[in-house]
Amino acid sequence: MAFQPRSDAFVFFGATGDLAFKKVFPALQSMIRHGTFDAPIIGVARSGWSLERLRERARASLEAHGGGVDPEAFAKIAKLMRYVDGDYSVRATFDALRRQLDGSQHPLHYLAIPPSMFSVVIRHLGDSGCAQDARLIVEKPFGRDRASAKQLNETIHTVFPEPSVFRIDHYLGKEAVQNLVVFRFANTFLEPIWNRHFVESVQITMAENFGVQGRGGFYEEAGAIRDVVQNHLMQVVGFLAMEPPATTYNEAIRDELVKVFRQIRPLTPANVVRGQFEGYRQEPGVAPDSHVETFVALRMEIDSWRWDGVPFFIRTGKNLPITSTEAVVKLKRPPLTKLAAGQGNSLRLKLNPELNITLGAQIKKPGSAMVGEPTQLSLAHHSRSDEMSAYERLLGDAMSGDTALFAREDAVEAAWAVVQPVLGNVTPVHSYAPGTWGPAQAEHLTEQAGGWAHEASEVSA
Ligand code: BG6
Repeated sequence: MAFQPRSDAFVFFGATGDLAFKKVFPALQSMIRHGTFDAPIIGVARSGWSLERLRERARASLEAHGGGVDPEAFAKIAKLMRYVDGDYSVRATFDALRRQLDGSQHPLHYLAIPPSMFSVVIRHLGDSGCAQDARLIVEKPFGRDRASAKQLNETIHTVFPEPSVFRIDHYLGKEAVQNLVVFRFANTFLEPIWNRHFVESVQITMAENFGVQGRGGFYEEAGAIRDVVQNHLMQVVGFLAMEPPATTYNEAIRDELVKVFRQIRPLTPANVVRGQFEGYRQEPGVAPDSHVETFVALRMEIDSWRWDGVPFFIRTGKNLPITSTEAVVKLKRPPLTKLAAGQGNSLRLKLNPELNITLGAQIKKPGSAMVGEPTQLSLAHHSRSDEMSAYERLLGDAMSGDTALFAREDAVEAAWAVVQPVLGNVTPVHSYAPGTWGPAQAEHLTEQAGGWAHEASEVSA
């Protein structure tokens, strides 16, 4: 990576909000503990708060989400913290911010605010001089569809050039997701079989055993496809399916990701099953006749030399039996089906709640018959405790100007192009009982590929 100056101020809009509470303060505390952060922290909000109140909010956040308050780190946060209160649509707020920036040369501005406020804040940052040599972090959702994402990119680029833009998809910051790249490309045994000749299908499941947790209003605008498929799960597909990235230049991984996204056929209604859990319509903020999906199962096809004809199935939902994210790569059956008891190998890459990689293999069943029985070989297992949080990793990278783990403009638009044909109510939404694996229709999608791979997830839940 070419030399990038470190950001010398961290500004976050939405300082009194939920995201700051759950993710930003805890990440700041971790960075300070690890000695990787030392810059003014400037909170901006329109809440009529004082600096003292923001400090108290930071303390409460660390108690609830930061693994407790580290007195030394907290003292430092409290000392570095400043606060600007004001309306985002008023220039005076940004003049006040400029004063607080107090000579900072490369501030990092983090928009932890509703997307509807993005353009006005970006415009004011530009007009007030706060964007000079600055960086910008924006949170998902990045647009609502391809056209609005394109428009948002254009708005951003009127003030911030692409190398200064950091679009967060926190899946890219997850240790277990990054491991997909290392596991795939640092192991000689994998590459020869990682293609259409040996792989029968790939399944990615992101299950959550909780509902919308009071975020009904947000969810009504999103639904599962916008909330997690267009971004988080597309990144997982990208890492599983991409070609080896050159290691010699910084954009290599992002170049390979966008290439794969462009090779994925736009989804068709016939390959998508949407579901909604019973009771969703009674959630606060949800329309009584809502058709928004809380579950989706779909089949993707990648038109590439490597993957032609190999289905990639995705399934995600709220109120499913367990919380678990994993990819199962099923290999083709060997020819001697008698020995292999009708099953081939499979590689199970569990990403959440912990990293766990197992290889499903066959060994001889003890006894007189010459037949196999399935067994599991554990290749890796890391618990979460040794993991740097995704937000710590990503905020640290943004402070040092490293864009590698952020969604690039072209990738975001390419990912929207894949889901675009199935946005809205173009497919029916089937109801399902909470605690089940979604509507029965989802089972049909994988019927010819041997069904969904449930068992191991449920055992380890
Ligand atoms: C968020 C979605 O981006 O990711 C949530 O808005 C979802 O609906 C969450 O629950 C899942 O993230 P994680 O890190 O818990 O897998």
